[in-house]
Amino acid sequence: MKKGTIATVAMLSISLFATSAFCDTKKGEKVDGKAEFEKHCAACHPNGGNVSNPQKTLSKAVMAKNGVKSQKDIIAKMRNPGPGMTKFDAKTVPDKEAKAIADYILKTFK
Ligand code: HEC
Repeated sequence: MKKGTIATVAMLSISLFATSAFCDTKKGEKVDGKAEFEKHCAACHPNGGNVSNPQKTLSKAVMAKNGVKSQKDIIAKMRNPGPGMTKFDAKTVPDKEAKAIADYILKTFK
């Protein structure tokens, strides 16, 4: 009986430990910029294009011509977009996600 109790306690603490370890990894998880881009932006910017304004695609060269050159500039566009684009505030897309999306755009659409 005593042995059984010890085994139960041991198993319980192992599973508790496993659960907290799982939570920690989740918290530190990297944001998937591609997935976030597809969720929030791809409807209007499929493959980095622009369905309503072909002069304002997300290609690096085109953005540079329009003064959008860095991660910060892209985030500024999300927070304060031009005509026809949805506004993404920090509640909809937190900074961490916004950065991941911006990095994804800069390295994906040349
Ligand atoms: C409802 C459609 C729509 C959605 C959704 C949308 N955009 Fe846009 N986006 C536009 C339009 C329209 C423009 C051009 C606005 C203008 O004239 O300044 C634009 C322009 C931009 C530009 C400037 C491009 C350039 O060449 O000057 C960036 C950067 C951008 N969007 C990023 C994003 C990101 C990142 C997301 C997702 C978080 C997103 N957009 C979601 C419609 C959209």
